[in-house]
Amino acid sequence: MTPLSAPTAPRFEHRTDGGPALGLTTVRPRLSWTVPLAPEDYRQTAYEVEIHRRDDDTERWVVESTDQVLVPWPSAPLDARESVTVRLRVRGSDWSPWSEPAQAEAGLITPTDWKARFISPVGLGGLRQPAPQLRGAIHVPGRVVKARLFATAHGLLSARLNGNPVDDTVLAPGWTSYEHRLRVRAYDVTPLIREGQNTIDVTLGNGWWRGRLGFLGQRAHYGHRLAFLGQLEVTTDDGNVHVLATDESWGARASGILMDDIYDGQTTDLRHDPAAPFDHAVEIVDADLAVLVGEDGPPMRVTETVPAQQIWRSPSGKLLIDFGQNLVGWVRLRVPASGPGEEIVVRHAEVLDAGELGVGPLRSAKATDTYYLAGTGDELLEPAFTFHGFRYAEVDGLDEIRCEDIEAIVIGSDLTRTGWFESSHEMLNQLHRNVVWGMRGNFLDVPTDCPQRDERLGWTGDIQVFSPTATYLFDTGGFLTSWLADLAAEQDASGRVPHVVPDILRSEVTTIPTAAWGDAATVVPWVLWQQTGDRGILERQFASMRTWVDHVASIAGDDLIWRGGVQYGDWLDPTAPADDPFNATSDPDVVATAHFARSADIVAQAAEALGDADAAQFYGRLAERVRAAFNAEFVAPSGRIVSDAQTVYAMALEWDLLPDARQRAAAGERLADLVRASSFRIATGFVGTPLICDALTNAGFEDLAVRLLLQTQSPSWLYPITVGATTIWERWDSLLPDGTINSNGMTSFNHYALGSVVDWVHRRVAGLAAAAPGYRAISVRPIFPSALDRCSARHRTPYGDAAVGWSRADGVVTLEVEVPVGARAEVELPGDATVTTVGHGRHRWQFVETPAEGTALHTVRDFLDDEHAWEELTRFAVDNGLVASETQLARLLAPFRDRPVAEIADAVWTRIWPSESTKAALAGLVAHYAAAASAPTRPLSAQLEDAALHV
Ligand code: BGC
Repeated sequence: MTPLSAPTAPRFEHRTDGGPALGLTTVRPRLSWTVPLAPEDYRQTAYEVEIHRRDDDTERWVVESTDQVLVPWPSAPLDARESVTVRLRVRGSDWSPWSEPAQAEAGLITPTDWKARFISPVGLGGLRQPAPQLRGAIHVPGRVVKARLFATAHGLLSARLNGNPVDDTVLAPGWTSYEHRLRVRAYDVTPLIREGQNTIDVTLGNGWWRGRLGFLGQRAHYGHRLAFLGQLEVTTDDGNVHVLATDESWGARASGILMDDIYDGQTTDLRHDPAAPFDHAVEIVDADLAVLVGEDGPPMRVTETVPAQQIWRSPSGKLLIDFGQNLVGWVRLRVPASGPGEEIVVRHAEVLDAGELGVGPLRSAKATDTYYLAGTGDELLEPAFTFHGFRYAEVDGLDEIRCEDIEAIVIGSDLTRTGWFESSHEMLNQLHRNVVWGMRGNFLDVPTDCPQRDERLGWTGDIQVFSPTATYLFDTGGFLTSWLADLAAEQDASGRVPHVVPDILRSEVTTIPTAAWGDAATVVPWVLWQQTGDRGILERQFASMRTWVDHVASIAGDDLIWRGGVQYGDWLDPTAPADDPFNATSDPDVVATAHFARSADIVAQAAEALGDADAAQFYGRLAERVRAAFNAEFVAPSGRIVSDAQTVYAMALEWDLLPDARQRAAAGERLADLVRASSFRIATGFVGTPLICDALTNAGFEDLAVRLLLQTQSPSWLYPITVGATTIWERWDSLLPDGTINSNGMTSFNHYALGSVVDWVHRRVAGLAAAAPGYRAISVRPIFPSALDRCSARHRTPYGDAAVGWSRADGVVTLEVEVPVGARAEVELPGDATVTTVGHGRHRWQFVETPAEGTALHTVRDFLDDEHAWEELTRFAVDNGLVASETQLARLLAPFRDRPVAEIADAVWTRIWPSESTKAALAGLVAHYAAAASAPTRPLSAQLEDAALHV
């Protein structure tokens, strides 16, 4: 029998960085652990936490509980700077061995813990002046046992202690809603401090604080001055603590960074004299230390370097580099010895345009890094205070570059990867990789819309639709906790949620409540709770969630219909005119009212999870009333919904807005017909895209969902891959089928929103989903699409790794499921109505897939549903000039869907006048396929073979 192993060392809150959790400002950090191995019948009955606070102070707490995710801190709160070592063990029937210890250390908690003040240089570091550098010095009279630097800035900071970087983070302190929450990092600088004299040099960049931010050309949103706050605390072996705090004793000088801006790039003069004196004074600037907060998630770092794939001269003679991947970061370039002051310019873009660097989509962002060489030998060039979204770079000032001298540096929030997917379908795998890259490029402290043009903002609607995918792919618990705190802080008293968080647009228009965007206030915390099991998120966000819904209720008024106003609606529906992305097929009032019902329902469920029965009842009742109002206003008794678009049916079906079963069935049928009419190409925007495949699947049209997913003609998820996309695009056709850039001023090649479909791919194609918060229960419900031979998903849940993999060979499907200790899986097999529940370990089932009877094609609809028959018909119709495209044929046949298949030729006849011989040939083709239908194989009988291997 498998013995019970020691649990993993405890994790504190959502901290995922290895090593001690430093700088905690949550003084009662919750603990989580996983148990790698346990006997088959193991169920946790208790855990014991040992907290070592000081030499003579070790506490032990036994808690009778089955919980292991974010359990409460059992002891007294941590004091500022207090360092503790924590280990634990768990009990089933017997106790496990003890875990490895983990260290947690509190940071500076209240303003009174700070001796330091924000300092800013005098006469230097102005808006259009070089980046300033500050220097402080400390004499340490003894052997150093511990040193911490607590630091943050108004602007970006890059700090060096005795010439060495204080750590490997970039763009510190990141971006938060600075006026409400400014993040402090605790750096462990013990190895960098020495006995005797030490100096710390800090360079300040404009960053989000003072740089250009927003598409209206604004800058200095948070202030006109850059400033630094730093407190270095050095403990020597005699127990004394020596403190260097920012104050007027520091000096300043100009750095060699002549210009730095997130959008425009950086200009660096490498001739800058490193020995130049810090002969400018600094002064203390008034700032509220009460806004300082600790880190919830990981900082930004370099996460990968990507070598150049190809270097060549463009038609106009420019030196171009292709890194083979659209990514976010900058270029690092080694240049050979050259004369001082020689200029090297690196420009960046995501695409090529007529063989040259395609900078059009960047709009006003210059994305240009310029260097004036020192002329002292080989030089390594890279910026510090900017980042670019690019796949291609253009380098000016060099005759040639060798591949080994140039690389792309990828940066981003250093999130831990938690989700994987793989299948036998290479394009689907590429779609998944593109989604992962899209997320990496847009999770730079704030979940942004895009990383390249003059925007890069925390658009609420984008993360609202992408959050289920994001939380599967990476551990976003800390990252989104922080962003949600910003969202709540930015909400006004009436509950309005700005369209971007942090809100730098600060305009009347962009705080007008708008559906799907403002609903990030309810949806993102709800998703996070489902994915991480962190009830604290609901507790902290509940007021924000509820006031958003209250505000919407006040706009909707007595009849509970949310009409008009500023609505992005089903943004970027592919049928909307390229220059009018608001103009979707779905009626904006239907979209808005559906979101109202959904958010009210989420608040009701959140209230229930929090044990607030009154609120649960109030919002539950509200959701019911909004549903009824939605029905009365927008839904015909037949199930038709106003505007008759795919997105409105998808919302109504997925959000339970159709209580009547007949209406629901009819809405599902209608949705399927609309998919047929769009010739199996996508017809949804931001709102409908994450819902459409679930809606089709749950309505019994999983084949249509898979057909949509695997479609390669534009618009579709896979079309961009046919033209080489390595990220998800903002528009379905950011690059047009003729190879030109969709040039309407809003065309990014790195927007994650439309990638939100892979959430469905994880849950229903691979079959791995959370069935209870934090994946304590896992739902295994793959649809086993016949287009795939093999498919697998793995997710690092809070309980440990869960995995589902299935494959088919010789008519036999094998399903393998891995369940972590502490969780259970509910497995649904095709053809078997019962749900099988299994505990931790590895499980395996096999079932025989029986080919379905070749059902005859009776109606025109049947013909469309038979992929092969439809493909042949389309080919015939296009080749014979009857229609220009598949889409035209699908539209032409739409009104005849219920007619007998033999009438296809007549249906075509009503619009087009083919020759008698063509018509006869068409009729012959139809008759041939109608008789010999090529129905897909379906798993009909499931033979349970639970070979549970408990490991
Ligand atoms: C952004 C979107 C955003 C939208 C608002 C755009 O400029 O890039 O992703 O959600 O504005 O509709």
